[in-house]
Amino acid sequence: MKCLVTGNAGFIGFHVAKRLMERGDSVVGIDNVNDYYDTALKEARLQLLEQTARDQGVEYEFLRGNIADKGLVEQCFAGHRFDRVIHLAAQAGVRHSIEHPDAYVESNLVGFTNMLEACRHADTPHLVYASTSSVYGANSKMPFSENDGADHPLQFYAATKRANELMAHSYSHLFRLPTTGLRFFTVYGPWGRPDMALFKFTRLMLAGEPIPVFNRGHHSRDFTFIDDIVEGVVKASDDIARPDPDWSGEQPLPATGSAPFRIFNIGNGKPALLSEYIEELEKALGVEAKKDYLPMQQGDILDTHADTRRLENAIHYKPDTGIRAGIEQFVAWYRDYYRV
Ligand SMILES: NC(=O)c1ccc[n+]([C@@H]2O[C@H](COP(=O)([O-])OP(=O)(O)OC[C@H]3O[C@@H](n4cnc5c(N)ncnc54)[C@H](O)[C@@H]3O)[C@@H](O)[C@H]2O)c1
Repeated sequence: MKCLVTGNAGFIGFHVAKRLMERGDSVVGIDNVNDYYDTALKEARLQLLEQTARDQGVEYEFLRGNIADKGLVEQCFAGHRFDRVIHLAAQAGVRHSIEHPDAYVESNLVGFTNMLEACRHADTPHLVYASTSSVYGANSKMPFSENDGADHPLQFYAATKRANELMAHSYSHLFRLPTTGLRFFTVYGPWGRPDMALFKFTRLMLAGEPIPVFNRGHHSRDFTFIDDIVEGVVKASDDIARPDPDWSGEQPLPATGSAPFRIFNIGNGKPALLSEYIEELEKALGVEAKKDYLPMQQGDILDTHADTRRLENAIHYKPDTGIRAGIEQFVAWYRDYYRV
């Protein structure tokens, strides 16, 4: 198959592109390699993708550019016929969206519209895109289920991601474009994001500096290991979204439809307290953290917990990597990559 992976210089896009090439698919990547975080890390991921393509003997092409540039996206689709589009490029980060909403409008709304339009005109067999557990916002019914409404986002980031799901539905309905939205729950692992807790804590702890612990570490997250996310993305993309014959407008379930549209949670399904996550990191690093206890941050969600039954039923896959094994793999990568 030929797959377009957007955001392939990013954490998740890099891993997905790599996995697709390792199974023999050809990949086109697009990413503007923006400086939201260290671009050297993004460039290193891109180099490893070039290497993977050589090792596997598969076709790989990389376009350096902005998905908000409609001409560029059109040019990309004019040169290829994609069997799958896996759209992972976005402005990520919950807290950053409080001060920088424009970046989210550009990448997550304009960029997403361009991807929908391109897939529509190219008759793409399946568009798979990243959503987030953050769409559950003010919901407190646990675990978070796709069958519950997600209409009270607590940050602008979550609002743009929820908008993507609604935009996707309109294209699935109007143009019969099969779309699958995947709500990722706090992803971590090797080649991770420097703006996320595990990466930040590791850097600070190895430097002997205190780590900021919000809400005394009492909130919980459904931390999900990157390999489990990749497996879920690849399996979900192989299983093309279809209309749900049982869907009824009388009782409109939010995550399916009479159009080829669906939404799945992808999470570990076993939330851990932030304090437990820090303890596992201390063990893996052999360093005791100095903790700077701080109040809850504006826009933060207290707990997240994924109900993964719909995903399991559809693609017969359930993430299962525990935080101990996942954190150990992250620390091994970090020490090797940064030579510490
Ligand atoms: N990592 C997580 O825990 C998590 C959780 C929920 C959802 N997500 C979503 O998963 C996707 C991937 O996240 P990630 O953690 O790999 O983030 P990331 O920031 O590492 O990757 C995103 C990539 O997209 C690129 N990009 C951003 N805007 C672009 C634009 N306008 N044009 C071209 N490229 C652009 C960036 O340069 C970056 O390389 C995102 O859609 C994110 O919102 C991630």
